[in-house]
Amino acid sequence: MAVLVTGGAGFIGSAFVHAWCSRTDEPIVTLDLLTYAGNLDNLSTLPADAKHRFVHGDIRDGGLVRALLEEHRPRALVHFAAETHVDRSIKSADAFVSTNVAGTAALLEACSEHLATSGRNARTGFRFLHVSTDEVFGSLGPQEAAFHRASPYRPNSPYAASKAAADHLVRAWHVTHGLATLTTHCSNNYGPRQFPEKLIPLCIARAIAGETIPVYGDGLQVRDWLHVEDHCAALRAVLERGTPGATYLIGGHGECRNLDLVHALCTALDEARPDGAPHARLIRFVEDRPGHDRRYAIDASSTRDELGWSPRHALLDGLRATVRWYLDHPNWIERIRSGAYAAWVKEQYGP
Ligand code: NAD
Ligand code: TYD
Repeated sequence: MAVLVTGGAGFIGSAFVHAWCSRTDEPIVTLDLLTYAGNLDNLSTLPADAKHRFVHGDIRDGGLVRALLEEHRPRALVHFAAETHVDRSIKSADAFVSTNVAGTAALLEACSEHLATSGRNARTGFRFLHVSTDEVFGSLGPQEAAFHRASPYRPNSPYAASKAAADHLVRAWHVTHGLATLTTHCSNNYGPRQFPEKLIPLCIARAIAGETIPVYGDGLQVRDWLHVEDHCAALRAVLERGTPGATYLIGGHGECRNLDLVHALCTALDEARPDGAPHARLIRFVEDRPGHDRRYAIDASSTRDELGWSPRHALLDGLRATVRWYLDHPNWIERIRSGAYAAWVKEQYGP
């Protein structure tokens, strides 16, 4: 049996593929469109004997998805592919609605058609793991209890609204078509290979280059940081042992204010690269993001109790290791920042 992964060239998807290939010989197939955020460099260090295949393509292409399902007859599909950056969704929501909503619907449609025509049992023979976000639950006040399974949907950004719509489609496919779906809501991930537009890699890449570090508004917004390897371990547990139709919350016990986080990154950079110290001199307060959610926090106790999963990375250690990874991979950052990687993708796959 194989597993089909969408968005496996992105940040979390590629971490999932790496972890998968280091643990098992079970084949894994990545379907990825290589948008600006997809990066084949993320998969270039897989072991030579890894049973991984990359397919360039769009989740919205039902014919392609059905052909892949027929060819590989995977036991599961893990759905990471999405437009993911809140700031981009504020500038234009089109790609978010198209990929996150219509793309998820196209995948669900292709899966149920494949299962119906191939005689496979939708309830027992196949699992659809949908990777969602805690942002669908909106923003918490400082004293409010963390998000939990029964938290109401209150998406505030176009990105969060598009993910919420996708969640509802996944739920509907479970109830109406009997598809064995699993939905996860994780908090902000960090770690190696994250596109340098999200806060942590952006700060590190800019600080390494001696550029200013932009902090939105007062910098007192809180995120619950989750190391990407902990996230992928939770996803494997949900995939293997989760209950169809259920939702799982995945957090890092890592609540931190943005300003504190940025200072911690600067300290880690000072330790690793004393010649650039103090990196905190680069911090600048800039105009706030419209509709900026104040606080996210996750109560992952139901996931821990049901699946025995807990995060292993402590935030400060994880941040230090993450800073180290970006310092050790200057070419990875440079190829993105210079546009060389985007030019290569265009040459290989067209505009
Ligand atoms: P990412 O932006 O790094 O990668 C997204 C990947 O999807 C890219 O490889 C891109 O090429 C691919 N893709 C985009 N549109 C596609 C399409 N139409 N067809 C095929 N492939 C397409 O994203 P990420 O940070 O790895 O996030 C993965 C998933 O996790 C997303 O669904 C996101 O909503 C969710 N999530 C992420 C975070 C986080 O902190 N990064 C937090 C919560 C939830
Ligand atoms: P981000 O990494 O974009 O993730 P999300 O919006 O999904 O939480 O942002 C994390 C936090 O950092 C969020 O509160 C916005 C803030 N932020 C900045 O202060 N400066 C920046 O340059 C960016 C990209 C984000």
